[in-house]
Amino acid sequence: MTAARGTDGVLVDRYGRVARDLRVSLTDKCNLRCTYCMPAEGLPWLAGSQLLSDDEIVRLVRVAVRRLGITEVRFTGGEPLIRPGVVGIVAAVAGLEPRPRISLTTNGLGLDRLAPALRAAGLDRVNVSLDTLDAGRFARLTRRDRLADVLAGLAGAAAAGLTPVKINSVLMRGVNDDEAPALLRFALAHGYELRFIEQMPLDAQHGWDRAAMVTADEILVTLRTGFDLTPDPAVRGAAPAETWLVDGGPARVGVIGSVTRPFCGDCDRTRLTADGQVRACLFASEESDLRGALRAGADDDELARRWRAAMWGKRAGHGIDDPTFLQPARPMSAIGG
Ligand code: GTP
Ligand code: 5AD
Ligand code: SF4
Repeated sequence: MTAARGTDGVLVDRYGRVARDLRVSLTDKCNLRCTYCMPAEGLPWLAGSQLLSDDEIVRLVRVAVRRLGITEVRFTGGEPLIRPGVVGIVAAVAGLEPRPRISLTTNGLGLDRLAPALRAAGLDRVNVSLDTLDAGRFARLTRRDRLADVLAGLAGAAAAGLTPVKINSVLMRGVNDDEAPALLRFALAHGYELRFIEQMPLDAQHGWDRAAMVTADEILVTLRTGFDLTPDPAVRGAAPAETWLVDGGPARVGVIGSVTRPFCGDCDRTRLTADGQVRACLFASEESDLRGALRAGADDDELARRWRAAMWGKRAGHGIDDPTFLQPARPMSAIGG
């Protein structure tokens, strides 16, 4: 199918998909060093002058919400909570008309302290990354001994009403793939919604190995040894997670099978990096420089026009299974998950 090119209004691509969900990376830095994401020494971070200022971020989100039909805004990183202005940015975005739904994906460090202020600023909900419940494993996997802080962050988010609190777990063979049932029991006991994620080729070290990836099918087989999983009647829409009711519900568990069960055909996402580049896809090889345009004096019409042009070029899918697939030049932490 060939869609009409968007010159006005929403962010449509040539396959007819419409982007309603904007993911904004607030920083490429992180206070953990997950082995599947970054090397121990970290990465060459963006310079301060390359980063969008708080006001520039809010301006671009305003253009997206008011002119481009964005209804969902998610803040990501790196680790978004280490951005000093995060509460103010959330408050400004919550003040936009029409007000978008606002969520944030975090590693949980500092969330117990920040959750009440984020909630008061207008944040609706959070997703927290947690791959293991064993403190020693956590320290090896993230290279920081901070499991207790993440658990406190989860509890703080729930207490502040940032619900549903979701947990993201990337399973890795021989590292934490024996922990799926324990992670689910933990989530059920606390009322968190757990999602298991297939690892994607987005690590800075280019160490991803398809054969080592724990697949959605494997995860489901393991979970079914301890739980009764039935299809979730809730509409999935464009969500990456496929969900199941656990033991009859209402609790559910999700699996994000980006590699073996791709959902690109229903994708409704557009991304803005911390340095002001629009990416049509997590795996895009091209970016469109809105920061340069903004700093050169472009008005909102021009910024919206560039954003539409960038999304029109969105590819049909990530192409991980294509022999010509090339991992994006930037790692996950700089793209914003
Ligand atoms: P919810 O709205 O709460 O369902 O959030 P989400 O699952 O879309 O977002 P989250 O930030 O928690 O990301 C969970 C996992 O999904 C991460 O591994 C992301 O990288 C991955 N993910 C998010 N968006 C996309 C996407 O557009 N394509 C692919 N392939 N993966 C994505
Ligand atoms: N593949 C899949 N998910 C990843 N995450 C980080 N790196 C990868 C990867 N290579 C997850 C984090 C976090 C979310 C934003 O993405 O665990 O929960
Ligand atoms: Fe930080 Fe997330 Fe990367 Fe871990 S996966 S190092 S928490 S950005």
